[in-house]
Amino acid sequence: MANTFLNGSNILFTQSEIEQRVNEIAAQISIDYRGANLLVVGILKGAFMFFADLIRKINLELTIDFIAAQSYIKDASTGNVRLLYDPLVDLSGKDVLLVEDIIDTGLTMSKIIDIIKKKSPHSLKICALLDKSERRVVDVGIDYIGFKIPNSFIVGYGLDYEGRYRNLPDIKVLVSEDND
Ligand code: PRP
Repeated sequence: MANTFLNGSNILFTQSEIEQRVNEIAAQISIDYRGANLLVVGILKGAFMFFADLIRKINLELTIDFIAAQSYIKDASTGNVRLLYDPLVDLSGKDVLLVEDIIDTGLTMSKIIDIIKKKSPHSLKICALLDKSERRVVDVGIDYIGFKIPNSFIVGYGLDYEGRYRNLPDIKVLVSEDND
């Protein structure tokens, strides 16, 4: 994807569509976790924006932490997930909700699930804003899904291409000139 560009016509989800869906998911989580010992764990970097919007709409007492993982080099999943930061808090007795921006092959999430399970949380659920299930290599059960998406390379709202476009408020399809 050497020559890539963005223009105004390739929006997949607008800021307000995302906001509405985030509110719906947060409302459901607020019902499901009533009385629980909720720890929301964001998977960096891509989930930072979704995570921040989501937790502000969850109407419960909760705590937060992060995991940092990286599997993509440029636009390709390497399948080799590197863990850059692992939460140090004690997870025993915690109802852990993992928050991810996108699940693609599922390799990142499946590695993170293994890591978290070893820490013996009281419960573990997965929340992903975007589900690109066509590309799945490992089966991952997702408890809360924002949107199911086609197999295109997308950026914005936390998602990047070579580190760029994470700050875009909308989710856009990255177009390659090579594909025209
Ligand atoms: C992206 C995304 C997920 C992962 C999904 O992270 O944030 O963590 O890829 O892909 P998979 O299901 O094929 O494993 P990336 O490695 O690009 O790091 P980033 O979050 O720092 O952008």
